[in-house]
Amino acid sequence: MSVTERIEELRSLLAPARREGRSIGFVPTMGYLHAGHLTLMQRAREENDVVVASIFVNPLQFGPKEDYQRYPRDLARDAELAREAGVDFIFAPSVEEMYPQEMLAQVDVARITDRLEGAARPGHFRGVATVVAKLFNIVQPDRAYFGQKDYQQLLVIRRMVRDLSYPIEVVAVPTVREEDGLAMSSRNSYLNPQERQAATVLIRALRLGRERIESGERNAQRVRTAMQELIAQEPLARLEYLSIADPETLREQETITAPAFLSLAVFIGKTRLIDNLLIETL
Ligand code: PAF
Repeated sequence: MSVTERIEELRSLLAPARREGRSIGFVPTMGYLHAGHLTLMQRAREENDVVVASIFVNPLQFGPKEDYQRYPRDLARDAELAREAGVDFIFAPSVEEMYPQEMLAQVDVARITDRLEGAARPGHFRGVATVVAKLFNIVQPDRAYFGQKDYQQLLVIRRMVRDLSYPIEVVAVPTVREEDGLAMSSRNSYLNPQERQAATVLIRALRLGRERIESGERNAQRVRTAMQELIAQEPLARLEYLSIADPETLREQETITAPAFLSLAVFIGKTRLIDNLLIETL
């Protein structure tokens, strides 16, 4: 496995594979890898001749009050884990390599970024779409792998790929969870033991919502209220948003119809966590 910081070097390393018509799978990450990332890498390994992973904590997608500075970083550990997962090339650029000057060209995906994470984190998806567009141009993969935990990000990338005609298949991979249901996230490393316990409130609320729907409740507001009440019982949790929406448009549902997309963002102490469940049939 090779690790490079340089755009030009990665291009040269990938040139032979491209010339020989070998397929390239790409897993973009911000590093501090966990089992969720490794699942994406293993899937890319199964489906492609060559696997590239990027590790780049992208400043463009963090708001001024967010955790860009303290976001966990450990390239040596990540490189070892990625190698074990079958990655061939790691691209780990510096901020100067990716953004040597102010980025006057950025990618905006309209409308589906107005809600949920887009509303809570202004500018976030512009930063994500811009870095992913740039990474796609650098790596030029045949397939790119994204986790369903960041479901809205997946919608944004899919739409960008379609609208801008990237010849890339976007592959969605189910969320990987800890035994108690907490979705894997690099940000879980911020949680102290009490907070880690409290963080299960996200999946408990989502499962409660699903149970209510499965037992016949069709009034979305009543389901939201039940979920909010459960979260309110957890003293370390502060709900930011909770949504039952159409999974394509992300518009809120009044009467629940399938498919329904349940999602939420909750602060556990100072750590902001997100999670979601998709209900495909009723
Ligand atoms: O999901 C992430 O880790 C990031 O948003 C991504 C896709 C690597 C872009 O920085």
